[in-house]
Amino acid sequence: MKKKKIAIVSDHAGYFLKEKILSYLIKEKHDVKDLGCTSEETVDYPDFGHPLANTVSAGEYEMGISICGTGNGINMTVNKHPGIRSALCWNEEISRLARAHNDANICALPGRFISESEAYLIVKTFINTSFEGGRHQRRIDKISLKMY
Ligand code: RB5
Repeated sequence: MKKKKIAIVSDHAGYFLKEKILSYLIKEKHDVKDLGCTSEETVDYPDFGHPLANTVSAGEYEMGISICGTGNGINMTVNKHPGIRSALCWNEEISRLARAHNDANICALPGRFISESEAYLIVKTFINTSFEGGRHQRRIDKISLKMY
């Protein structure tokens, strides 16, 4: 498995899972940057989503992982940034297709709705699946508002 540069964030609702995934990624020898939060004390997910999106869209990290309670709030936040394609991944197959068909560069996880073992599978699949290109490249090229 090729080692990746990965940034990770969560809000309080995703903090427990973030810490677990962070340990897993370090154990797997990926180059990981934890951009917070740092406890289960209540915070606002955009305060963590925006820095994650900035570092991924700047190319400092190849991919991002974001976690909030449902995954929706943080997913909406990062998708406001140019160059970000964030996918809400709640199972392994969705995660695989987010990479293979959508070339997603951020994996958004619903921390309150998946188990720890499901989260590892989703993240592992996201990291190890390549974009298929071809017709999917044409489609993702049309996502940008600049086209319309
Ligand atoms: C926090 O309570 C919760 O609203 C947040 O984690 C997330 O689910 C929002 O989309």
